[in-house]
Amino acid sequence: MAENTEGAFLEKNQSLAPGLYEMTLLAPALVAAARPGQFVMLRLGENWAPFLRRPFGLAGIAAGAGRCQIVYRVVGEGTAQMSRWQAGRQVDILGPLGNGFTWPGVEPGRAALVGGGMGIAPLLPLAQALRQAGHQVSAFLGGASLDRLFGLGQLGDLGCRAQIATEDGSAGFAGLITGPLERYLLAGAGAGRDAVAAPGADTAAGTDHAAGTDHAAAAGPRASADADPGGGPGAGIGPGSGAVDIVYACGPMPFLRAVTGLCRRFRLPAQVSLEERMGCGLGACMGCAVKIKDASGTIQQRRICYDGPVFDGKEVFFLDQP
Ligand SMILES: Cc1cc2nc3c(=O)[nH]c(=O)nc-3n(C[C@H](O)[C@H](O)[C@H](O)COP(=O)(O)OP(=O)(O)OC[C@H]3O[C@@H](n4cnc5c(N)ncnc54)[C@H](O)[C@@H]3O)c2cc1C
Ligand code: FES
Repeated sequence: MAENTEGAFLEKNQSLAPGLYEMTLLAPALVAAARPGQFVMLRLGENWAPFLRRPFGLAGIAAGAGRCQIVYRVVGEGTAQMSRWQAGRQVDILGPLGNGFTWPGVEPGRAALVGGGMGIAPLLPLAQALRQAGHQVSAFLGGASLDRLFGLGQLGDLGCRAQIATEDGSAGFAGLITGPLERYLLAGAGAGRDAVAAPGADTAAGTDHAAGTDHAAAAGPRASADADPGGGPGAGIGPGSGAVDIVYACGPMPFLRAVTGLCRRFRLPAQVSLEERMGCGLGACMGCAVKIKDASGTIQQRRICYDGPVFDGKEVFFLDQP
């Protein structure tokens, strides 16, 4: 793991929507080592309050320019302070940390990127890297409301097809994004591949206000990236659903449980990025340990900061999973 100690220069800290911000940092050494799916730890407070650094995924990685982006939501003391930072300040940053997403195959293929809420952030540099490598990318973005979604403009510019879902029905599918994802996988399965069809399983009901609508070119904040994925979990390309060869997902635990359930049902490999509150971010304190069951049924403690945050979806059996 490459850890940066040079600090970073804050170039921009702009509001994207109420409570949602995008920060651009100049940090050439960190960015040169960074891969999609990795994260950084930022010291946020003056006078060590809050005391612990806070973790943030990289929402943009522009290695050539030495810049990275972080998209963040204000949820507490640290992020509130962060939102008041002005361009020009030095930022105490540690990273890149963790493993990151990988493309497990050789040939160009088809990836589905599934993001819930702030889990959209690490999927943006992944989309860029996959597109640069010649893969097709379909994105499925879900959030509480339209103003909780971001990255649509960037995904459109990259030529990714994006579907969105909002829980309040303000845009796209009204409900959880697993609804459109399931429909997409079923359509692919109907086109000639295996799916273990279990109607309704793993998916919350919802209403489609824009049936069949792709949102590839909707306006949205930009986050640039030019990194390639490499290293990390080794989920091989599976039989796929006909529409997709692999699923990448990031979001809250119940969301990831639903997405990995769909992947198992459609026999798709998945890489999932887990989130938990963190202490050190370096694997030392066990503050981010989660209990997961591996494929053999053995329950293990895994550190999200050090063993992850990206895990092979096949090996992640959430404890509350039926
Ligand atoms: C690997 C990783 C990547 C992340 N990437 C992003 C990102 O790209 N953008 C972003 O906005 N946030 C991201 N987060 C979450 C971010 O770290 C927290 O929002 C932040 O630490 C909150 O700090 P705070 O001092 O403002 O809030 P606090 O005062 O520490 O907490 C405020 C509230 O948020 C809850 N909370 C804090 N951290 C988490 C967490 N990790 N999971 C669930 N609930 C939490 C607390 O329980 C509390 O209710 C990421 C977390 C991890 C582990
Ligand atoms: S945060 Fe300390 S071990 Fe992960």
